[in-house]
Amino acid sequence: MMVSISAITPILSLVTSALAYKATQGHYGTYSIVPGFFKQSDNNTDVKTFDYHDNLGLNDNLTWPEFKQQILDLNENAEPGVEYKVIYFGRHGQAWHNAANDFYGEAFWCYYGLFAGNGTVTWGPDPELTPKGIASAKNNSVLIKSLIPEGFPLPQSFYSSPLTRAADTLNYTWFDLVLEPGYVSPMFKESLREWIVR
Ligand SMILES: *[C@@H]1O[C@H](CO)[C@@H](O)[C@H](O)[C@H]1NC(C)=O
Ligand SMILES: *[C@@H]1O[C@H](CO)[C@@H](O)[C@H](O)[C@H]1NC(C)=O
Ligand SMILES: *[C@@H]1O[C@H](CO)[C@@H](O)[C@H](O)[C@H]1NC(C)=O
Ligand SMILES: *[C@@H]1O[C@H](CO)[C@@H](O)[C@H](O)[C@H]1NC(C)=O
Ligand SMILES: *[C@@H]1O[C@H](CO)[C@@H](O)[C@H](O)[C@H]1NC(C)=O
Repeated sequence: MMVSISAITPILSLVTSALAYKATQGHYGTYSIVPGFFKQSDNNTDVKTFDYHDNLGLNDNLTWPEFKQQILDLNENAEPGVEYKVIYFGRHGQAWHNAANDFYGEAFWCYYGLFAGNGTVTWGPDPELTPKGIASAKNNSVLIKSLIPEGFPLPQSFYSSPLTRAADTLNYTWFDLVLEPGYVSPMFKESLREWIVR
């Protein structure tokens, strides 16, 4: 389903999305989507009009407590070796290499991206978020905060790329919700990162 996320937002704005997964056999398990919970899992959803800000895509016929209960029920009744998991994907907010890509277009990938910056802005090797990227992460934090009284189940673990843009997006989104209270400690995974600019 990572595929459908990038299909939903090829732009490098921040996306938080939620999908219900079914994990079966194998080391990491074989994952398949459980339909019926999220609009982004439905092939009939128009990616041009889909907006995750609308309740993170939860289907209109479900409340968050009902959703949580249904996941608990699925796990309760799952056959041996089968587990249901809810995975929220968060895309990093706009970073300086994204802004430079918007500014230079193709020339960024052919030429300017070979350098660490252009004297005005620095985009390599590990670019920071732009003010726009920070604002979208903070905006998502406000969104999630508004869903908590609705019974939105907070994530129980976090996995992040170690690159600055990803780590900072995570912190701007989740700091006061779960990190500062110490509910969870994020895990930073080298295998989750994109390539380094330059
Ligand atoms: C809720 O709506 C979705 C999408 O239309 C549908 O697939 C699902 O079966 C519905 N669930 C219930 C419990 O009616
Ligand atoms: C959605 O479309 C994909 C690709 O055509 C297909 O593999 C998948 O089974 C479809 N999902 C549902 C829930 O129908
Ligand atoms: C900020 O969040 C609100 C509500 O979740 C949403 O409607 C709006 O589009 C978001 N703005 C940006 C710039 O992401
Ligand atoms: C450097 O790139 C930024 C876009 O990332 C652009 O706004 C700025 O004008 C550029 N500076 C120069 C000197 O070309
Ligand atoms: C995370 O965000 C908080 C609040 O803005 C800030 O005080 C803290 O320094 C940040 N942590 C990191 C590792 O950047």
